[in-house]
Amino acid sequence: MDVIPLGPGFGAELRGVTLADIAFDDAAYAAARAAFEEHSVLVLRSQDTTDELQLAFSRRFGPPEITKIGSQGAGSHFVILTTIGPDGRVVPADHRMQMRNKANQLWHTDASFKRVPALTSILSARIIPDHGGETEFVSTRRAFERLDTDLQKRLEGLFAWHDYAHSRSQIAPDLASPEERAALPAQCWRMVWRNPVNGRCALYLASHAYAVEGMEPATGKKLIDELTAAATASGLSYLHTWRKGDVVMWDNRATLHRGRPWPSHEARLMIRTTISATAADGLATIRPPSWQAAE
Ligand SMILES: [Fe+2]
Repeated sequence: MDVIPLGPGFGAELRGVTLADIAFDDAAYAAARAAFEEHSVLVLRSQDTTDELQLAFSRRFGPPEITKIGSQGAGSHFVILTTIGPDGRVVPADHRMQMRNKANQLWHTDASFKRVPALTSILSARIIPDHGGETEFVSTRRAFERLDTDLQKRLEGLFAWHDYAHSRSQIAPDLASPEERAALPAQCWRMVWRNPVNGRCALYLASHAYAVEGMEPATGKKLIDELTAAATASGLSYLHTWRKGDVVMWDNRATLHRGRPWPSHEARLMIRTTISATAADGLATIRPPSWQAAE
């Protein structure tokens, strides 16, 4: 397996290895896992991906999420990201499915609004548009390392609130349904996630983050916005241009990503699997201390 660096200080393409190798061979998994911890974004090209193979590959990294209520694929291990309606045609530009793509174009990390946040997301390209539709990544590990030491220390002791309804409300006030709001109460996480394997820290931020615990609302929001702006400034990203057969996985603890737009009449179908973070991934260390004591 060759590891070819891709982005500005993070991201790598794995060559000479397939999803099946990593799914079924312990040595291939160990090498891929080490690359994941080191590079945060991994790209595999020209894969013959099926749902079953993607899930077997994903399970190597931890327990797969059950897709949440309100998403296509709810109740299964797959999130179906598509603009193709039940009749096989692309839905109109003002359809809820298209509006959700707009929310996906805000800088975020997946599942920080869930009771158990995600270690990694694995996305496979099944149908891609002719133009646009890229996925753009930045490293929040690099972003943390660029901050001065005093701010790094301060952030390690701060906790932010993450709410799905907040990120959706930036696109349309009612984009999060009452059922989604009821199922997804706001979550509070430490603003820095230390990787237990290599000890490197990353900012833990997202479009879902709206407040800092113990801080006046506007001040907390300003801090989140400033950190996000610094993390996502131009020249710091890896832009992934999709080809059919691509599989990309990323570390939700150490990156932000966003979808890029494409012409709304062009079809797109992507399948995502998402792996929950566990104790071995540092989950307990990002919970507020009082919650740790209660468990
Ligand atoms: Fe996402």
